[in-house]
Amino acid sequence: MPEIKMPVEPFKIKVVESIKKTTQKERKEILHQAGLNVFNIPADKIYIDLLTDSGTSAMSDNQWAGLMVGDESYAGARSYFHLEEAVKNIFGYAHLIPAHQGRAAERILFQAMLKKGDFVPNNIHFDTTRANVEIQEAEATDLVIDEAYDPYSKHPFKGNMDVEKLEKFILGKGPKKIPLVMLTMTNNSGGGQPVSLENIEEVSQVCRKNNIPFFFDACRFAENSYFIKKREKGFENTSIIEIARKIFSFGDGATMSAKKDALVNIGGFISLNDDSLARKIKDILIAGEGFPTYGGLAGRDLEAISRGLEEVLEEDYLEHRIGQVHYLGKLLEEEGIPVYKPVGGHAVYILADKFLPHIPRHQYPGWALTVALYKEAGIRVVEIGGVMFAEKDEETGEEIFPKLEMVRLSVPRRVYTISHLHYVAEALISLYKKREKIKGLKIIYSAPYLRHFTVRLEEV
Ligand SMILES: Cc1ncc(COP(=O)(O)O)c(C=O)c1O
Repeated sequence: MPEIKMPVEPFKIKVVESIKKTTQKERKEILHQAGLNVFNIPADKIYIDLLTDSGTSAMSDNQWAGLMVGDESYAGARSYFHLEEAVKNIFGYAHLIPAHQGRAAERILFQAMLKKGDFVPNNIHFDTTRANVEIQEAEATDLVIDEAYDPYSKHPFKGNMDVEKLEKFILGKGPKKIPLVMLTMTNNSGGGQPVSLENIEEVSQVCRKNNIPFFFDACRFAENSYFIKKREKGFENTSIIEIARKIFSFGDGATMSAKKDALVNIGGFISLNDDSLARKIKDILIAGEGFPTYGGLAGRDLEAISRGLEEVLEEDYLEHRIGQVHYLGKLLEEEGIPVYKPVGGHAVYILADKFLPHIPRHQYPGWALTVALYKEAGIRVVEIGGVMFAEKDEETGEEIFPKLEMVRLSVPRRVYTISHLHYVAEALISLYKKREKIKGLKIIYSAPYLRHFTVRLEEV
């Protein structure tokens, strides 16, 4: 890995938004009111918000200018054609179908492609992708390489699909039961890790051999392309757009949440080659999202997305963006804080059970760390561990915990400066030094599904 220097912002600041500090006494009361759940805290009471990188980007002056010239015509708006051109230029597929965000694109694609009893392999399904597969009564199967579950493996592409497992899976289920294979890049649910071009090509060959369409979950395609440039032999001198085009040339289509690598606050789309599938998708879109040239978005949103898609490919931008995330990881690692390695593209993942070894899994160390970090410094992060993903053993009723107990520090794009990241690192280092004082938690209210959004807890 190259040594990480302090990343210097490739932009200057034209508009600012105030953030307010709170006192520790206030934060204790806020946490109490929130049932020790940071999702329940009003954003005004957060000093640094690392809950997600999704929809939290700062737009450029060029994007804001685009909002003013957005065409709000119901059908055939100029802004749609701008977006179509921008998407085709990168993805190269025949059709562009906008949707209001990534999960809408997933829902519509799966409604058009899946039926009860089908299977969809992915490296790791993001939770909305999994939910939308399951809504069609199909099964979502994760086939990422084993290294993804080893937080210390230094494999440069831990988002890769295990091609052998994929081939066996297709053989076992039969290609007719598999309407599509997906690949998520970067792999959000597995540490934000990239997928290599070599792996993409191999997956593509398996799909072609079996006549199965191959789709990308492309939310963070530019970050993935940057990792390929930096880590995969032979691409050192290839531009980001050329790498991205090569990636998409191996597939048949993609879903995209524009809230990530299109640098906007809302939006998404499907892009694909198959004409009859595109027609079917457009019919579903009209009933639920809107006419196919706006798909639930305003014309100005389409304009901002098309401009964001150009900006995200700038190498200076990506160097700073990935550099920031890795710099934060380095500050933590230097002080012995256990983090998932290598650090991913959009977030640093702390190994919470190693940070708080005195708290057993059934007392939710990851969640306890999110509470402690807010109390310490007003910083909001998210648990990716037992509260979010534990399943119930049907016989014993006991919880089965996911392999990794992590806390994710997502860095919004172009929002925070290096000093903000130092503040975050200092807060975590201070907590690490007094970590044995942090207490385990027990759940006092839990919804039947997606419980992390509304769960309430108490200290043990
Ligand atoms: C990999 C991945 N896929 C899909 C989605 C869903 O996108 P959206 O939040 O725009 O619905 C996300 C959002 O975080 C994601 O990270």
